[in-house]
Amino acid sequence: MDFAYRNGALHAEQVPLEEIARQFGTPCYVYSRQGIERHYGEFRRAFGARDALVAYSVKANGNLAVLALLAKLGAGFDVVSGGELARVLAAGGDARKTLFSGVGKTEAEIAQALDARVLCLNLESEAELRRVATVAARMGKRAPVAFRVNPDVDAKTHPYISTGLKQNKFGVAYADAERLYREAARLPQAEVVGIGCHIGSLMNSAGPYIDAAGRILALVQRLETGGIRLSHIDLGGGFGIRYRDESPAPIGEFLDGALGVLAGRKERLIVDPGRAIVGNAGVLLTRVEYVKPGAEKNFLVVDAAMNDLIRPALYGAWHDVLPVRQAEGAAANVVYDIVGPVCESADFLAKDRRLAARPGDLLAVMSAGAYAMAMSSNYNTRPRAAEVLVDGGKAHLARQRERVEELYTGESVLPW
Ligand code: LLP
Repeated sequence: MDFAYRNGALHAEQVPLEEIARQFGTPCYVYSRQGIERHYGEFRRAFGARDALVAYSVKANGNLAVLALLAKLGAGFDVVSGGELARVLAAGGDARKTLFSGVGKTEAEIAQALDARVLCLNLESEAELRRVATVAARMGKRAPVAFRVNPDVDAKTHPYISTGLKQNKFGVAYADAERLYREAARLPQAEVVGIGCHIGSLMNSAGPYIDAAGRILALVQRLETGGIRLSHIDLGGGFGIRYRDESPAPIGEFLDGALGVLAGRKERLIVDPGRAIVGNAGVLLTRVEYVKPGAEKNFLVVDAAMNDLIRPALYGAWHDVLPVRQAEGAAANVVYDIVGPVCESADFLAKDRRLAARPGDLLAVMSAGAYAMAMSSNYNTRPRAAEVLVDGGKAHLARQRERVEELYTGESVLPW
């Protein structure tokens, strides 16, 4: 597997994590090339020979080395900002396989997307359609557009990452979609190319995804009757992964279900997974600074913190924590909260874990390839971690650790 023990030492592929810590320091994100490629391959396999595109959701992990691997395999990309689009292009990604999503695209971002000739702009409101038409007219271009339609299907996931319900800010209402498509089809500056939806993240069962596919198909058929033909149907991402003991439905079950619903249709199927490709292909490597026994709780104070990995603080997310060197004997008898040095009570990576640990020991926070480094910050003026991509027996520094001076470059004090 991508991360496994050999002779008591946790490895990333063939490289001992101890070696990575020695070479690159901690905290450090470590990704496995074979993991990323295998997960991407699961999607490709499930699609078989059907015309389909896997548009990797860059927000999950936008490191150029990760994007470049996926671009080489033929992946497309789902981006939500001009910054993410720039990353994709810098990594050698193909703009014609790139979808630009997001509720708040600025005029500059729309112009950047049209300049780059992206596959499609996923529109999320009527006002955005007008803005896109204005920008396209100014540039003398026709903008390829799709609407992200809210199918009002409950993804049954955490409220912060559920996006397909009526009360969410995302997408256009199902009931308004036909009218909006007709309006777009009338605009000479817009070319209607597809439809999109995304009902939420971290879905463990395929049912809601397949229901959403059905709702979207019904709409596509009504549009067709009205003379509006689409080239693609984008069903979004949201495929769950195992963090603890969940048993998410295999990718094939989601995709077979969706393909079944769309059987006989000619539109190209697009999915935009993020977490399912990178989540379990990464770990956060951290070192124990202090062991701090307390009256009610024992703490391991480590050198990674909520600014490096905010998911536990933000969603109460559970990440497994493994010792990089397996304890000899039966020493794992103390229960700890694993916390960082940031000045917030929410600064924890894990709670109530039984571990044997001494100062200086290394720990691996598992399943940290998605929404981890990507959501990191410089809170407490903490330089962001290094990122390392392991490929077999080799470790490549994919992003160097930030230096403190970089964090305040660009700031300036009153000159008077
Ligand atoms: N497509 C769209 C339109 C999205 O909004 C998202 C994620 C995805 C695809 C990719 O979803 P995935 O396959 O990775 O589940 N920060 C949260 C997750 C937020 C997801 C936002 N949208 C977390 O750490 O769990």
